[in-house]
Formats: sequence, structure tokens, C-alpha cells
Amino acid sequence: MSASTHSELPVERDASDGASEGSCAPAGCPAVSRVGEVIGDLEIESRIAEGAMGCVYRARRRANGERVAVKILHPDAAAEPVAVERFKREYETAFGFDHPHIVRVRGFGETPDGSYYMTMELLDGEPLSSILSREGKLAPERALRIVCQMASAIEHAHSYGVIHRDLKPANIFLERGPGGTERVKLLDFGSVKLQLETGPKLTAFGTTVGSPSYMSPEQAEGLTELDPRADVFSLAAVAYEMLTGAVAFDGETAAEVLSKILRGTFTPASVREPSLPLGINLVLAAGLRRDKASRTGSAREFAEGLLRVFGLEPDVDGFASASLEAIRGALDSRRSRDITVRVEQESADDEAGGSSAVVWISACAATLVVSAVVAYLVL
Ligand SMILES: Nc1ncnc2c1ncn2[C@@H]1O[C@H](COP(=O)(O)OP(=O)(O)O)[C@@H](O)[C@H]1O
Ligand SMILES: [Mg+2]
Repeated sequence: MSASTHSELPVERDASDGASEGSCAPAGCPAVSRVGEVIGDLEIESRIAEGAMGCVYRARRRANGERVAVKILHPDAAAEPVAVERFKREYETAFGFDHPHIVRVRGFGETPDGSYYMTMELLDGEPLSSILSREGKLAPERALRIVCQMASAIEHAHSYGVIHRDLKPANIFLERGPGGTERVKLLDFGSVKLQLETGPKLTAFGTTVGSPSYMSPEQAEGLTELDPRADVFSLAAVAYEMLTGAVAFDGETAAEVLSKILRGTFTPASVREPSLPLGINLVLAAGLRRDKASRTGSAREFAEGLLRVFGLEPDVDGFASASLEAIRGALDSRRSRDITVRVEQESADDEAGGSSAVVWISACAATLVVSAVVAYLVL
């Protein structure tokens, strides 16, 4: 990432040809689907996901047949200067990153109807939110690997002074690789701070932002001056959910969730999931601390703490690139080492217990002999 990438938008060729009306949008979609439209070189093939500010589509480049993802700002959002500024900022920020766990953003352009779009590498996989709602909690080796990859991506963004501000399972994509491997790709830098922004996150015109369950207390309070610890809080909330299958700060309404975040009340992870090592509660509590001054200072430090609690070396980069089998193996050998230590400890205790029993029996026998002698003499 370089400063120059933030000053200019490499604009893709604008569409001028053949825009056509797409199929009808789903409930909640504020705009007509663009499936079937041609935007510049891009043929919009299908819709991937619908967001508050825009829609993500799969598209084909006419020039070379390459498949890409295109995020298009909703036309009504395009009429809002702050929304347009936010969209451009999202593009400029993400375009500047070159990191294996951050989505590659490629180009930016204007649609024939005056909206804007950005192109990205097309990822094959699904967001963590879908995996969690289908599978519940994840195996520790999988959760640890995801945390390490996230920590690496977050640290990269932080090293350029970029705070993501909206880390949540829907923005953590798990790309499917060869042999079923999965790789984190951090998405959606649409919440990075804008100079002209004064209010809370712009929503899609009346619709509410999703659950604030991963929002740091300082964001819940409405503060806009954030530092890396806001993302550390969100990372810890995501880790909690992956390891327990439960959301740390849950509630029927956004207000209920926010009040729990502000009070800092959540059920200890080991109560939700007793198979977790007890030390997990300390690591998660430190990451989720309400007061950021006493919260874990960086994403890497959080990931290191988590690895240590599972008895692993705090090698975040190593575990980010390790296979699941290797991490499982490391966890298993750690567990069997623990069991060996426990068995040795117990047998040492037993031996100690055994010799004290001998002492006790000898003492009783001696008492009996002495009592018998005393009784004989007295009588
Ligand atoms: N490059 C991509 N490849 C495949 N799917 C993507 C890509 N980018 C986003 N998505 C999908 O679209 C969803 C919304 O993308 P996101 O960038 O978070 O937009 P929004 O600002 O609407 O939240 C993601 O959760 C993911 O499922
Ligand atoms: Mg998103």
C-alpha cells in the first residue's frame, strides 16, 4: 500500500452500451437487480449478496472471460454525497492493500445511470456468518487458524493507520481453496473514517445496520475517534462466537445488545463451552474489556494470548499458514502431554497418600501396643 494509491481512483471504462433491465430484486432490495446489464466491459451475471449500501454481483469481463465480483452502490445511495464519498473511500482504502487475507480490490467506475461500482477478485466460498449459522461453534483448530489469519490482516490495516470499524462474521469471508482448505479474506472497508463524516454510520436510508453485537463500547457510545483497540474488541467478539457457538453480546433488540456491551456483561466462554481451557475466560475478557485502556492492545497480542491458552506457541504467522491437521496435531499432543503430567501427578499423590497411610497404620499399631502395656501395668 502506498500513499499514491489513496489519491487517485484508477477509473474503469464507463458503460455506454446495452444496459438492460435485470430480474426483480428480492425483498429488502431497494433497487432493481442489475443482472443482465452490461457495464463497460462487465456483463453482470448473477447477484451474490445484498447489502445496505450496495449489491455485490458476479460478472464476466467481455475482453477475456475473467469472472470478477462487482459491488455497485444503490442508485438512491449514489444520490447522497456522503454515501458516494464513503464508497470511494472504501475502494481507495482496500485498493491500497496487498495482503493474502484482505480481498483484492481492482477497479472503480461509474455506471450509466450515475451510480458507482468497484471490481474485486471473485471469491469462492462463504462468509463466516453463514458458516456460524449453519454449524454453530467451530473446532478449536479452525477457530484459532481464522483468528490468526484475521489478526494478520487487521495488523496490516492498522500498520497503515486504517481501523476497519466493522469487523463481524458477515465481513469475514472464508475462501475455499484446493482440498477444502479455507482462507480468510477480510471484506468491506466501507466503515473506515471519512473526513466529512460527522454522524453515525450511514445506513441505507431508513433500514437499520445489522446487529451491533461486535461493536466496541466506544463505538456504541457514538465516539468517532477510534484506535486499533476498537477492532481488537470486535475480533474478540468473533473469536468468542467461533469457540462457543454463542454471541457474546446478544439481545432481542439493538438497544439491549448495546446496553450489554456498555455494561460489559457476558457469560464466560467456558460456561457456554466447558471443553474449553479455563484460561480462555481471561483472554476473551481482556479482549472484550469495556475500558480500552485495559483492553488487549493489538490483534496480534490477542491471537498470541489465545494460542497460549490452548498450550500452543504464540506463533501467529505460523498458525495462520498451518494446515488444520497440523494445528489439531499440536493441540492433541499438548492434550496428551497434559494427561501424562496429570497421571504422573496423581500417581505421585497416590504414593504420598500410600506412605501417609503406612505412617497412620504404624501410629495406630504403636498406640495399641502402648495402650496394652499401660493396661497390663495398671491392672
Ligand atoms: N469479492 C467477493 N467475492 C465473493 N463474494 C463477495 C465478495 N465481496 C463481497 N462478497 C459477498 O457480499 C457480501 C457483502 O459484501 P460487503 O463488501 O460486506 O458489502 P456491504 O457493504 O453491503 O456489507 C459479503 O458478505 C460476501 O458474502
Ligand atoms: Mg459488509
